[in-house]
Amino acid sequence: MTTLITGGTLVSATGRTAADVLIDGETIAAVLTPGSTLLGHDLAASVDQVIDATGKYVIPGGIDAHTHMELPFGGTNASDTFETGTRAAAWGGTTTIIDFAVQRTGERVMDGLGAWHDKAAGNCAIDYGFHQIVGGVDEDSLKAMEGLVAEGVSSYKLFMAYPGVFYSDDAQILRAMQKAADLGLLTMMHAENGPAIDVLAAQLVAQGKTDPYYHGIARAWQLEEEATHRAIMLADVTNAPLYVVHVSAKQAVAQLAWARDNGKNVFGETCPQYLYLSLEEQLGAPGFEGAKWVCSTPLRSRAEGHQEHMWQALRTNDLQMVSTDHCPFCMKGQKDLGVGDFRAIPNGIGSIEHRMDLMYQGVVTGQITLERWVELTSTTPARMFGLYGKKGVIAPGADADVVVYDPAGHTSIGVGKTHHMNMDHSAWEGYEIDGHVDVVLSRGSVVVDETGYHGRAGHGKYVPRGLSQYLL
Ligand code: URP
Ligand code: ZN
Ligand code: ZN
Ligand code: ZN
Repeated sequence: MTTLITGGTLVSATGRTAADVLIDGETIAAVLTPGSTLLGHDLAASVDQVIDATGKYVIPGGIDAHTHMELPFGGTNASDTFETGTRAAAWGGTTTIIDFAVQRTGERVMDGLGAWHDKAAGNCAIDYGFHQIVGGVDEDSLKAMEGLVAEGVSSYKLFMAYPGVFYSDDAQILRAMQKAADLGLLTMMHAENGPAIDVLAAQLVAQGKTDPYYHGIARAWQLEEEATHRAIMLADVTNAPLYVVHVSAKQAVAQLAWARDNGKNVFGETCPQYLYLSLEEQLGAPGFEGAKWVCSTPLRSRAEGHQEHMWQALRTNDLQMVSTDHCPFCMKGQKDLGVGDFRAIPNGIGSIEHRMDLMYQGVVTGQITLERWVELTSTTPARMFGLYGKKGVIAPGADADVVVYDPAGHTSIGVGKTHHMNMDHSAWEGYEIDGHVDVVLSRGSVVVDETGYHGRAGHGKYVPRGLSQYLL
């Protein structure tokens, strides 16, 4: 199967140019001057299919490096399976996910990784890789970390939050980081002071403050700032590179900026929810409504200006990328476990379908450039997590993961409109996007176009990752 994408503007992390893209099978064969012939042959007449991208952007497929399909969490399971979640991803122009395999205290790391392979294999519409959650750091799991790189897992996540679930104390973190530094693994950190949060949360509930809003009060920005700083210093003393996930507080960004200005190998991501949504408007919605937006780190105060600061940090490269932390739960039967006690609301928001659109809206509003959009959503995730060359770029030899994006199109987000995630609500209901995902190719196959969805569970393959290409 050969495909020619003609007439579009090819956008990369470093520029934009009028170019045609020739795809042979699963791979990009050539990037050509518009109207090029090949040995005198009209290319458009020689290929199996032509995709007309006139007036549109042609970009590398989105890479969402932080998802939680089927995560057992908060007494239930995240509601998207690998099948439903990757289908929704494809609808939204994301062609690769990196999900988190889970190990807990008393479990073996490689069993956790094997279980995630079993959940994903044969079910994904797009390609997928794994990070490893090490939720129980002990002699066994430290030893098992030695096998991760060979499995194509070059990053792992630790939690300073969720005592009794995934939590590691400072001694465990230090030991894991020492191991990671030896192995070249990238340490991903959930940076919130969990023990302090749990005390504040219990006190709020004892005072009758049980609404979702108080989830955001208990998880104060000071406890994100403090944990971020502690993670940076533990990483520094162990020589381990550090990637802080789901950064939401401007004070935590300041810690990352300080570390980077002092030459430390420290990186951070934020998520669309921290750019658009707030403590006051969403978590503070009337009644139990705010449960839709209970996630950790929590949505922050708009009055304090965190959202504007996240956009700024994306421009100044204090934050390097945007992932979703896709962790969907339905209101009925899942979020409602926490009626009367916000601590029992499963933590997580579903956004995998809308990340490319929501971030493109930042181009429309002048918050980021077109090139930065591609960099934040595809090219840097590829480099950060050892996929670059195959993913994150449109160049000869790369996987033909391509999105044709229409800047003149329009996307209305909401249930019954563009909603394909397995959730009974949308955290993004009513958002209107100037822009539209028109065509999505995953390794050369059209999975989405203007006539609908053409993907297939099982098309998506496991992509073993190399070491981070973002580190010295
Ligand atoms: O609320 C969140 N973020 N749920 C997913 C688990 C995590 O901490 O990333
Ligand atoms: Zn987390
Ligand atoms: Zn997460
Ligand atoms: Zn369109």
